[in-house]
Amino acid sequence: MHQGLKKKDLLGIKELATEEISLILDTASSFKEVLGRDIKKVPALRGKTVFNLFFEPSTRTKTSFELAAKRLSTDVMNFSVPTSSVVKGECLIDTIKTIEAYGVDFVVMRHYSSGAPHFISRHVDASVINAGDGINEHPTQALLDAFTILEKKGGLSGLTIAIVGDILHSRVAKSNIYLLSRFDTHVRLIGPPTLIPDLRDYPAEVFYDIHEGLKDADVIMMLRIQMERQGKGFFPSTLEYSKYWGLDPQKLDIAKRDAIVMHPGPMNRGIEIASDIADSSRSVILEQVTNGIAVRMAVMYLLSRVKGNG
Ligand code: CP
Repeated sequence: MHQGLKKKDLLGIKELATEEISLILDTASSFKEVLGRDIKKVPALRGKTVFNLFFEPSTRTKTSFELAAKRLSTDVMNFSVPTSSVVKGECLIDTIKTIEAYGVDFVVMRHYSSGAPHFISRHVDASVINAGDGINEHPTQALLDAFTILEKKGGLSGLTIAIVGDILHSRVAKSNIYLLSRFDTHVRLIGPPTLIPDLRDYPAEVFYDIHEGLKDADVIMMLRIQMERQGKGFFPSTLEYSKYWGLDPQKLDIAKRDAIVMHPGPMNRGIEIASDIADSSRSVILEQVTNGIAVRMAVMYLLSRVKGNG
């Protein structure tokens, strides 16, 4: 493991070269082996500091980055927006400059505005890692999804991957589309017309009928219905959404017999995915969570090897 990434920040899959994506996934395999040991910790980033700066709620991403940082022997600080001076009106740039004054090496940032991590990255020397920005990208989620598919299917090339649900508002979907399209996969986007964006930017095939879209799929990636956007008329009711777009055993039968089911979480059980499926042997949802640690270790490790970050 002697190579690094080319830029000091990880802002999106769009900004990564294909060989950088492969390097992250290969490095994550090495870290996954470390995580299987009795002592799950390496001194790779001893003396470095990671700052978790989350302006939106998170369970998986925040805890996974924290654990990944600890497994690499860094010091980790968590920033709680509701108890910070942000609520007194402190602006983003002053918040980030204050944090940088502590000499942090990594800022892991989730923000409700698309582009916020990109803006911050231009004002700090620390490596900025995008942990989800608005409806733009969630790059480490796509990386851990690809890692999980590779583990289960042995490769990405030739696979048919169906992404189902609210593509329009999903940063997870966008990062996945950008990543998967680099590796000769067939990406299908399935959902109601109101939740599928203008496709000029997305190399994918669109299906409004889930029965058509799931035919011969190797991987089914269900997306969270963003309840906070309910009432804006994207679909008539959750009941109807569940009937037409939710994954139930009958719809799962349309995909290949060995198709795996993924979900980035958090899930709305009984709406976009039936509980029986989420908890079944076809589901790799908790494996996605586990793999998030190794992938985030790989990202931080490789960013530390960018010239000037060592
Ligand atoms: N997948 C994901 O981003 O989950 P959290 O919102 O819990 O971090």
